[in-house]
Amino acid sequence: MALPEKRTRLGVLASGSGTNLEAIAQAIEDGGVPAEIALVISDKPGAFALERAERRGIPVKVIELSDYPDRPAFDRAILAALGVAGVDLVVLAGYMKLVGDEIVDAFPGRIMNIHPALLPCFPGEQGVRDALEHAVKVTGVTVHFVDKGLDTGPIIAQEAVEVDEDDDVETLHNRIHLSEYRIYPKAIRLFAEGRLIVEGRRVRVLPG
Ligand code: GRF
Repeated sequence: MALPEKRTRLGVLASGSGTNLEAIAQAIEDGGVPAEIALVISDKPGAFALERAERRGIPVKVIELSDYPDRPAFDRAILAALGVAGVDLVVLAGYMKLVGDEIVDAFPGRIMNIHPALLPCFPGEQGVRDALEHAVKVTGVTVHFVDKGLDTGPIIAQEAVEVDEDDDVETLHNRIHLSEYRIYPKAIRLFAEGRLIVEGRRVRVLPG
């Protein structure tokens, strides 16, 4: 009897709307990514990402910083939930906190983030606004592995997005989102297929 194919178990951390979560879940459902979303964790009880997950029958958990005595205790609660769910890859999808060091240590090379700018330009929470204020002609999207810095980890994939003269943060972010929905599932697929090799700062993609 053939053994069932091992699917990479994803733990998604989201604080907001969850449109990337939706794009990833859809790509999995369409058969393009050999993974399953084992758990969605949010630090915000009202995050729409939770509702999106529940609609798809994905287990969810709210872990709020204010329920814990300090940041390490909060991070340990997240770590425990990821462990119980048997997560292989942690996927940050609009998670508005720095991932704690203990989590980074527990998942070396196994945490991904998506950032709405071409890193190392415009790191931090306001990547779209900062690019617009700098009046760049081209910005974009970066998927990277997470290390202990702010948006500093090895880069997996990037896609450029042109800035129009009449763009505001909303119109530009809307186009950036479209690019995110393409490259995040693709990066997760490469990980799930065992095709991402990290050598220092460089991420090599093995041919399929
Ligand atoms: C995305 O633009 C992502 O790049 C950034 O936060 C936003 C999350 O959007 N890290 P959503 O919650 O996936 O809709």
